[in-house]
Amino acid sequence: MTEPPEAAVRTAGLEKTYPASGPRPEVPAVRGIDLDVPRGEFFGLLGPNGAGKSTTIGMLTTLVVPTGGSAHVCGLDVVKDSVEIKRRIGVVSQNNTLDSDLTVAENLEFRGRYFGLRARDARRRTDELLELFGLTEQRGGNPFEISGGQAKRVMICRALMHGPEVLFLDEPTAGLDPQTRTNLWEVLRGLQAAGQTILLTTHYMEEAEALCDRVAVVDHGEILASGTVDQLKSSAGADTVITVAYDAAVPEEVKAVAERTGISKVEINDGQVRVFAADPDGLLGELVDLGSAAGVGVTDASQLRPSLETVFLALTGREYRD
Ligand SMILES: Nc1ncnc2c1ncn2[C@@H]1O[C@H](COP(=O)(O)OP(=O)(O)OP(=O)(O)O)[C@@H](O)[C@H]1O
Ligand SMILES: [Mg+2]
Repeated sequence: MTEPPEAAVRTAGLEKTYPASGPRPEVPAVRGIDLDVPRGEFFGLLGPNGAGKSTTIGMLTTLVVPTGGSAHVCGLDVVKDSVEIKRRIGVVSQNNTLDSDLTVAENLEFRGRYFGLRARDARRRTDELLELFGLTEQRGGNPFEISGGQAKRVMICRALMHGPEVLFLDEPTAGLDPQTRTNLWEVLRGLQAAGQTILLTTHYMEEAEALCDRVAVVDHGEILASGTVDQLKSSAGADTVITVAYDAAVPEEVKAVAERTGISKVEINDGQVRVFAADPDGLLGELVDLGSAAGVGVTDASQLRPSLETVFLALTGREYRD
C-alpha cells in the first residue's frame, strides 16, 4: 500500500474576520494564509500574542468557520466534511478541558467510547497511554488535582485515544515551568518518532526551534516566512543584530557604518541604531567608541546571534516579545 497522496494539512488564502460586535469593529484575525504540511511532519505556527494562531488552529479543527479561502485536513474540506475530520484528528487546546466529574482514566475511556471503541478496548487503550505517558499513578485522580504538566499529558492521551491522523496542539507548554516544558518536548518528539503528524502553535521561539521540522512565522494574521529553522535563519536572519541606544541622536559617524561591506542593514530610530551584520566582530565596541568620540553616551546595548529572534526582527523591524 502506498501512502495516501493528500497532505495532512493544506490551506489556500485562508481567512477569518470576526464580525463587529457592539462598539468593537470587525477583527481580521487571519488574512490569507497558505500552509502545506505533509504527513509525518512536525509543523509549528510561531507568533506573538494575537498573531492568529488559535484562530488558524480553530479553523483547521473545524471549530471556527473560515470567512475566506480554503482549508483541507487529510484531504477533507473543513467546512463540508467537518464531521469526518473530527474523527481523524486529535486536538489539545490551551486550557484544561478535562472533565472534573471523571477520574483521569475515565476521561480517556469516555473519549474512546465516544469514538466507538468497545469498553474493553477503551480500557486497554487507556492503560497503554497512561503507561506510555508516565501517568499510571494518576489514573484514579481528579484531573484538576494533578500538576499542570500532568494535566497536559492527560489531554494529549485523550486526544490520542482514537489514533488520530493529525494531532493539533495549541500552545501546549504555555505557562509550564521550564523543566516540565522540556519533559513535554520529549513526549512530543516520541510521538513524532512513532509516525504521528503534529501541528502545534507556540509563542516560544526555542520551542519551535527545538521541535519543528518546519515553522511558519505568523504575525497580524499573515505568514511572514516559512521553512526549516535553518532556512529561515539563512534567508531573513543570517545576520547578527546589534542594537545600541545612545543618550542623544545617533551620530553621523555611526550612520556611516551602513556603507561598509558586510553590513546588510542599518535602522535608525531616534537615539537607537540597529545594525544587521554578517561579520559582527568588534562592531559593538566600535559603535560605542564612535558614540563617545562624538560626545554621545550609551544607555543600552545588545547583540543577538542569528536565531528566530533575528529573523523576526529582520522581517518586522520589531522585537519579538512573548
Ligand atoms: N471570538 C473572537 N471574536 C473576536 N475577535 C477574536 C476572537 N478570537 C480571537 N479574536 C481576535 O483575533 C486576533 C487573533 O487572535 P488569536 O487568538 O487567533 O491569536 P493567537 O495568535 O492565538 O494569540 P495568543 O498568543 O494570545 O493565543 C486577536 O486580535 C484576537 O483579539
Ligand atoms: Mg492563542
